Order: sequence, then C-alpha cells, then structure tokens
Amino acid sequence: MQEVKTQRQVEILWAVLVGAVLWAGPGLGADPVRTGGDGESAVRIENLLERMTLEEKLSQLTQRSGDDIDDADTPEARQKTEAFLATIRGAQMGSFLNVHGAERVNRLQRVAVEESRLGIPLIFGLDVIHGYKTIFPIPLAETCSWDPDLVTRAAAVAATEARAAGIHWTFAPMVDIARDPRWGRVAEGAGEDPYLGAVMAAARVRGFQGEDPAAADRLLACAKHFCAYGGAEAGRDYNTVDVSERTLREVYLPPFKAAVDAGVGTFMSAFNDLNGIPATANPFILTEVLRQKWGFEGFVVSDWDSIGELVQHGIAASPADSARLAITAGVDMDMCSFVYRAHLAEEIRSGRISETVIDRAVRRVLKAKARLGLFEHPYVDPQREAQVCLTPEHLALAREVARSSIVLLKNHDDLLPLGKDLGTIAVLGPLADNRKDPFGTWAGIGGWGEAVDVLAGVRSAVSKETRVLHAKGCELEGNDRSGFVEALTVAKQADAVVLVVGEGQAMSGEAHCRTSLGLPGVQRDLVETVHAIGVPVVVVLMNGRPLSIGWTAEHVPAILETWHLGNECGHAVADVLFGDFNPSGKLPITFPRNVGQVPIYYYHKNTGRPPADNDGFTSKYLDTPTTPLFPFGYGLSYTTFGYADLEVSARKIPPGGEVTISAVVANKGKRPGHEIVQLYVRDVVASVSPPVKRLRGFRRIFLAPGETKRVSFTLACADLGLYNAEMKYVTEPGEFRVWIGPSSAEGLEGRFEVTK
Ligand code: NOJ
Repeated sequence: MQEVKTQRQVEILWAVLVGAVLWAGPGLGADPVRTGGDGESAVRIENLLERMTLEEKLSQLTQRSGDDIDDADTPEARQKTEAFLATIRGAQMGSFLNVHGAERVNRLQRVAVEESRLGIPLIFGLDVIHGYKTIFPIPLAETCSWDPDLVTRAAAVAATEARAAGIHWTFAPMVDIARDPRWGRVAEGAGEDPYLGAVMAAARVRGFQGEDPAAADRLLACAKHFCAYGGAEAGRDYNTVDVSERTLREVYLPPFKAAVDAGVGTFMSAFNDLNGIPATANPFILTEVLRQKWGFEGFVVSDWDSIGELVQHGIAASPADSARLAITAGVDMDMCSFVYRAHLAEEIRSGRISETVIDRAVRRVLKAKARLGLFEHPYVDPQREAQVCLTPEHLALAREVARSSIVLLKNHDDLLPLGKDLGTIAVLGPLADNRKDPFGTWAGIGGWGEAVDVLAGVRSAVSKETRVLHAKGCELEGNDRSGFVEALTVAKQADAVVLVVGEGQAMSGEAHCRTSLGLPGVQRDLVETVHAIGVPVVVVLMNGRPLSIGWTAEHVPAILETWHLGNECGHAVADVLFGDFNPSGKLPITFPRNVGQVPIYYYHKNTGRPPADNDGFTSKYLDTPTTPLFPFGYGLSYTTFGYADLEVSARKIPPGGEVTISAVVANKGKRPGHEIVQLYVRDVVASVSPPVKRLRGFRRIFLAPGETKRVSFTLACADLGLYNAEMKYVTEPGEFRVWIGPSSAEGLEGRFEVTK
C-alpha cells in the first residue's frame, strides 16, 4: 500500500511541476525542439502530448526494424526506400532497431525531425552486447575477471563507438541468471549467481550510460530480459519458466534491481511464460515489482514480437487482446509486433482501456528521448564515427579485458607458462587459425578482418628462432578424421602442442541451445589422439557455455578456458600461454561433469539427505559424483595463494548490527598475481530452508611474491536476509557460518550469531 502511494506521489509531483511551469511561461512549449532542464523537458512532453493524435501517440510506442532498407542503386530499391521514408514522414514509428552508421541514421532522423508533423526525433536501438566495432569478450567471459571497473570501461568503449555510429540505445546488459549451460544465452550474461550478477549488471549500466546518457560517448542501457528468461525448462530457449516466487526474488530479480539502482533507462520484457503469465503480459513483475516497489521511471520495450506471441502462448485470442494485455501490464513500446499501432486505438474507442494508459507510456518514451538529448541534438557527426572506432586505445583495452577473462583450469607440474624460446610449437585445432568464431554471439557489427587469432598471437609472442607449425586436425563439427594424420605429423615435431578446440560462434546465443555439453564433432578424439603421442599438450578451450570435458580434464596437463574473447583473442591467449600475463579469472558458472547433472549450481539447498559417497539413500547418482567438474568461483594462477588466520569481529551481533570477517591472503609462489578473494555465508537454521552457501562479497587483490594482505569484508544484518514464508525480506536471528576462500568449494570457516 505504502509503495503504491509513493508511485502516485511521483505522478502528482510531476503533474504539479508541469502545471506550474506551464502557468509561469505560456508559450514555452511552442517550440518543442529547444529546451533545457528537467522542468522544460516535462513541459515539452506535456505540450507534445496535447498536440498528438492518438495515432501519433501509438507510433511513439512502435519500434520497427531497419533490416529492410535497401541501399542498392536500382529503381526497385529506391522505391522501397522512399516507401520506408514515407512511413517516417507520416510518423508511423517512434524507434528503429538494426539501423546503424552515422550517415544512414542521420538520413532517417532528418525525415523524422524536419519532415514529420511534430518533428519528434527517433530513438535508434541496437544489440551492442560486447562491443560495437571493437569486440570485447562475451559477457560471460568478461565476468570471469570479477573486475567491475574493467567491465564498466569495456561497456563505455562500446557506447563510444556505437553512439558515434548513430545508436542511442543498446539492448544490454542482459542480466538473466543462468543455471543451465544447455541454454545458448548463458554466453550473454554474468552466470549463475545473483550477487555477482547484480555487481556486473550495475557495472555495465554505468559503462553504457555514464553520468549522462546524452553525452556523445554514451548510450541508454536496457536491462533484459525481464524476467527469469534464463530459467527456461530443459535449457531450451523461449521455453516455459516455472519458478517459485522465492526463487524469483532471491535469484532472478537482484541483477534487475541493481540495474534500476544504477539508473538504467529501459527494461525489456522477456519472451517466456512465467508461472503461467507470460512475462510480456505480467503485471506482477512489470508493475507491482518494477514500478511500485522499485520505483523504475524509464520505459519498458517488449522483446521482438513478444507481444504478438501472446496469442501463441494461449492467453490472447487475437492480436488486439495481446496489445491490450501487454500495455496494461506495463510494456510501453512494441518491438516489431505492430499490434499497438494496429489495435490500441480501437481498444480505447471501445472503452476497453483508457487513453491515460497510452499517455503514460508515451510520456516515458519521450522522457527517454529527452534524457538522451535528442530534441536538442538529433543528429550525429559522421566524421566522428571513423575516428573513434577500433582505435589503438580501444584495442588495448580489449586485450586487457580478454586476458583478464581467461581462466586457468588446470596446470599440472607447471607446464604453463611455456617458454618463448621453445624450438618448435605446434598450434593445432579447428579454432587455432580462426578469427571469426572467437567473436562469439552478438558480435555487434565488428568485422573480424582486424581480429587476431591464436596462431597469429603465438607467432607474435615467441622468439625469432622458434618454429610455429600449424594443422587444423578437424572441423568444428562432423565426423571427418582425415586431418588427424597431418595434425599428428606436426605434433610429433613439436616441443609443445597448443590445441585450440571448442565451440563456434553460432553454437551459442539466441535459439542456439545444445543437449550435449561435450566438445562437438570429433574434437575430443583429436585431443585424445594428439595427447597419446606424449608431447606436452595445452588445451585452449573456446566456447560460449560451460563444457563437460571430463576426459580432457583428467588427462591433458594444462587447460585454459578462453571463451569467445573477441578482437584481441590471439594476443590475450598468447599473453597467458607465455606468462606475460598471470591468469586470474574465476568461473562465474559451474562446469558439470556431464549433462545429466544439469542444473548444477553452488547456491543449492542441502536437502534432507545431502549426498554422501558411501551411503545408499542420499541425494546422489549411481554413475556420476554429485560434485561439479569445476566449481563456481574456481580458477588457478601461475602462483599459489595461501589463506590463513580468519577473524570474525564479533561472536554475536545485535539485529541491525554489522560484522567484519577477514583473512590473511599470501602469495606463496614466485610470480606476482591477482587473486579473487571470495566471501560466502550460510544461515544455519532459518524459517525457510537456506542455501548451503551464498556469495556475499569479493575482492580482486594484487600480491607480489611473498606479500601478504589481510582482506576484510563487512556485512550488515540486511546482507544476511531471506524471504520468509510471507515473502518478506528478513534477517532471522541465529547462527551463521562464513567462509573466505578462493572458490565456492574451499575456504576458511568462521561463525557468528545474530541475536534476538
Ligand atoms: C531478440 C532478443 O531476445 C533480444 O535480446 C534482442 O535484444 C532483440 N531480439 C533485438 O535484437
């Protein structure tokens, strides 16, 4: 009730402000294009709303794709383009997606601003997910850095390049928690954990939007896909999601809330059905949670045709029903269903919805345009586009992010780093001499022509005397083993083999799910065959999801998880292979031993019969251990870190109090390195069954050889809470266990109590 009031108060204040300014300055709204601060924006928006026809309002709520603009110099193409421009002139949409390039954007914008009746600028959106021209690692990889500042800087570069190319708005960050690696879109998010996911969501929003999204190097961000899209049954994209309200609140919502707190400008509603009410028509999440509880003031765009798809979901009998359900639930802009424009006028005329619902949505869209400064600066400087894209500074940052994203999974007998002066190195595998696949899913409009592959990276790193040999061995997919002979011939001449295997660009991403998590095709056979000759082998994995690589993990001495690293892939991999960079990445998602363990994540409940290897009736499998292949938070370094001397500031803390937990971390090896120190907690007895561990803090620290640091975390009582049976967030008194360690599976343990 209280929250509803707050929302109303905001609306009343807004109306009072608008009224006051209108009263004080009649005529101020006469020129909608020249204004300054928030008050004036409000006036302009109200003024525009008064002058807009219902059709014009619905157009502001309509987004169309520019995929079909044809640049060819033929009469048909010109006719098609002219028809297209006529729709802009007639103000039939408020936004475009998939149009980029300064010249092209300006051309369309000019028609909207100078030739349409009210001159309202268009907002241009694009999926700028991990870079525009300069391609950074996929978001899952970037998250392995556990370095929010670095992630912010990468997003800022993406924003700089995209804005220069006329883009105002990115459909990112994707903040969906993903616990099922079969789902192709795990690549786009920050992994399985709500705490890490929330930190990364805020970091990306800060990077895209900066202090002011109107700046020439910033974009408006979009938190997507609201919500629980990653919970798709069986890891199959778009599939049904049925999660408890507790899991929704504990696991899926926190990154979205963090995005709101970071000031994100827009949200995107998800494709999926959520507990029986598709997310795009779900008033609980779109209005009760997002607006009334969180106070979000930006606008919500649907996903592509997700409004039209309410018919297929079986909750709408017609496109008109879909439109009414979505707008009343709280979706402001229709991406490519075109049902708002086609049906909402009739819904209003027939009294099924009120025009105030439309006005509210239009107001939100116009506010976003004002926030972007589009009324003052609708155009973009075409000179800037070429100047800011793919600069040496951007590529240098891409290299830094890429090498910080690499996770060292295994390094038996310190095989790595390799010497740069080895006599012969064989660089093998279908991804070794390959610049395109490491771009990963949603690679912006990056051209992989400028990218560096692993073979080139190795060549540029080793001494002049070192021979670098290459053979592909096999394709990414298929059964053809005919290339094995050449691979073996090359490997036999080498002092070490770097074997680059994994998934191609198109094996993850939207609608790209897999039921097998092994290496595709005959790649695993290639690994076995090459390993059998006895030359030291380093496997470099490239993939968009966790893979089940049990055989490789058991037999091959060194494994680097490099994901899809983008432009600077080859340099970054070589930096790590040869020790110019000491790997520090840690996994943001659990690696299963086999697909049958899925979903597997560290943040699970204990059950009444926790797994015990030697006990029959426990929660376990007959054919596979219950533990993961590699746990959440895991990653090695070329040095070793020791943890000692855990201290908890108080044995008992009062309700509302704080506790500080600290431990001494030491670099016990011979190389300087970064360690990601993690803090986990467990509520021992609660009114609802608690998870066995929850990440509640982390620090990325640097230690020289022999150096030690005490690393401290302060937790407030509120950090220890849970949703009780009434779905209230409370911290219950009682015992808590706490760990500081290098992963979710290890750590020094302490205890404290929250008193009554
Ligand atoms: C569908 C995807 O689900 C969404 O993430 C993306 O932003 C839109 N298409 C627009 O390309």
